[in-house]
Amino acid sequence: MSNIATADFASHQYQGFSLAPSALSSRLLELRFDECTVNAFLEATAEWPVQALEYKSFLRFRVAQILNDLCGQALQPLLINTLVDRDTGALLITPEELNRVEQAEDMVKFTTAVAHLFGRSNFDAMSGQYYARFVVQNQDNSDSYLRQAHRVMELHNDGTYVEQDTDYVLMLKIDEQNMEGGNSLLLHLDDWEHLDRFYADPMASRVMRWAAPPSKNTTKDVFHPVFDTDRSGRPIMSYIDQFVQPKNYEEGVWLAALSDAIETSSKQLSVRVPTGSFLLINNHFWLHGRDKFIAHEGLRRELMRQRGYFTHAKTLKNPRQG
Ligand SMILES: [Fe+2]
Repeated sequence: MSNIATADFASHQYQGFSLAPSALSSRLLELRFDECTVNAFLEATAEWPVQALEYKSFLRFRVAQILNDLCGQALQPLLINTLVDRDTGALLITPEELNRVEQAEDMVKFTTAVAHLFGRSNFDAMSGQYYARFVVQNQDNSDSYLRQAHRVMELHNDGTYVEQDTDYVLMLKIDEQNMEGGNSLLLHLDDWEHLDRFYADPMASRVMRWAAPPSKNTTKDVFHPVFDTDRSGRPIMSYIDQFVQPKNYEEGVWLAALSDAIETSSKQLSVRVPTGSFLLINNHFWLHGRDKFIAHEGLRRELMRQRGYFTHAKTLKNPRQG
């Protein structure tokens, strides 16, 4: 299947789903599950509510297997290859007709099946589960920009302040009311105009301290550099502006310049994710963020995330040093 994940192809129909490059970028692939595949999956997994998947980890792999079987076993290799392919590594996935907020549980189940074909989702300290659902509303008093409207959430990687490997990020939109703006923002490292300059700087490999605010429910600081090198010698990143704690002037000034160079990149993709659809990205060479919204009294957006590690041998990341 390795040729499937290259950029140069038109829409292709597989058993149960179709795949095509996004109009925004050939690096982002759009995968659509046919309505009959979605319905057959929900029927075959009806005996297990999401709670069953929470309680018994192995059932997450059982539902993954059911989905893969419905797709003639072509889905699993395609997902594995796409996610580790440096030229792509990102999917916008849409299960047809699974897009109403009342179907939120089924959405979580479906995303769980997809994620567990190539990985295992980490424990999420914010929710105490292997996934986290959270609501963004007009009013918010939280201590990070995750839930705040009206402002950009800057481009970043996930998992910067935890010790678990975070190879992938899956972001599902469960609900959206009175939303104007708020597109997902993505930036592939190889598209970023300033990668070579920042990666070549001695500060790129400086070990820095990363600490999260109280809502993240993590108390331990972690230490690692902003840049690392994958097994093929290419740059990867583990960076978020809000949680890196520069220890001195030199680090602070370099990080501020890095932030400017990321946020002003003209290579960012602005992706509208419809309700029921989800983004799935390689967290090592894609940065993600969110554009600002227009204020509205009735604004409501509900999201779900899963982050985890690749279970397949093709994982790109070197074991984290330090
Ligand atoms: Fe994130």
